[in-house]
Amino acid sequence: MSFIHGRFVVLRAVEDSDFELFYEWMNDPEIAWWMDYDSPYSLADIASDIQRARAEGLPFTIVYENRPIGRIGLNRFRQRDRIASTYMFIGDKSYRGRGLGSDAMLALLNYAFRFRGLRMVDLWVLSENEAAIKMYKKLGYRVDGILRERSWKYDRWMDHTWMSITREEFEQLPISRELPGPENWAAGHYNSAG
Ligand SMILES: CC(C)(COP(=O)(O)OP(=O)(O)OC[C@H]1O[C@@H](n2cnc3c(N)ncnc32)[C@H](O)[C@@H]1OP(=O)(O)O)[C@@H](O)C(=O)NCCC(=O)NCCS
Repeated sequence: MSFIHGRFVVLRAVEDSDFELFYEWMNDPEIAWWMDYDSPYSLADIASDIQRARAEGLPFTIVYENRPIGRIGLNRFRQRDRIASTYMFIGDKSYRGRGLGSDAMLALLNYAFRFRGLRMVDLWVLSENEAAIKMYKKLGYRVDGILRERSWKYDRWMDHTWMSITREEFEQLPISRELPGPENWAAGHYNSAG
């Protein structure tokens, strides 16, 4: 199995046995709102969503103390430019606000930059998602720009905020020095995902 260690969480390849939980999380109105999902989802929708995510990118389940707590992943790989995009949520809300989302994203960036050789990771977030934007800024992401009125949210349009972080910016974060490096990958802490 593919897995990536953060300081507290582990990212492992999504398993079919995760689908029931994803079904619960992705139909949760608050998660669907911020992830901008077109829910409701059926279990079959979840299965095809994951199949597509596996074909197009690297979908991971965030695991904390052996318990799946959320989803994270890389997609939209642009090999020539060595850029990929990312997405995430902590589905089990009792695990929010404990630094686990940040840890999961740091683990993913560590993997993306130091193992996959990417030079930039980007993402978009609904512009009113203050919690997520604050977290991404704390992790070193910078705002690249705003795309106006990209999502219809119930009764109004909402902007998208595009953010990105380069490998150099990641390496300048003091925390990046505490994350496992290539010497640990060779020892088996990291397996190639996908
Ligand atoms: C955004 C999300 C992933 C954050 O995960 P988390 O594990 O709760 O975040 P952390 O505990 O690592 O918090 C990191 C920082 O983010 C900011 N933050 C997190 N939740 C916040 C909230 N509710 N309000 C304001 N700031 C918040 C804070 O700056 C926090 O650092 P601090 O605790 O030192 O102040 C989680 O809230 C979530 O899954 N939200 C719903 C889905 C979503 O918005 N996904 C992102 C879409 S792009």
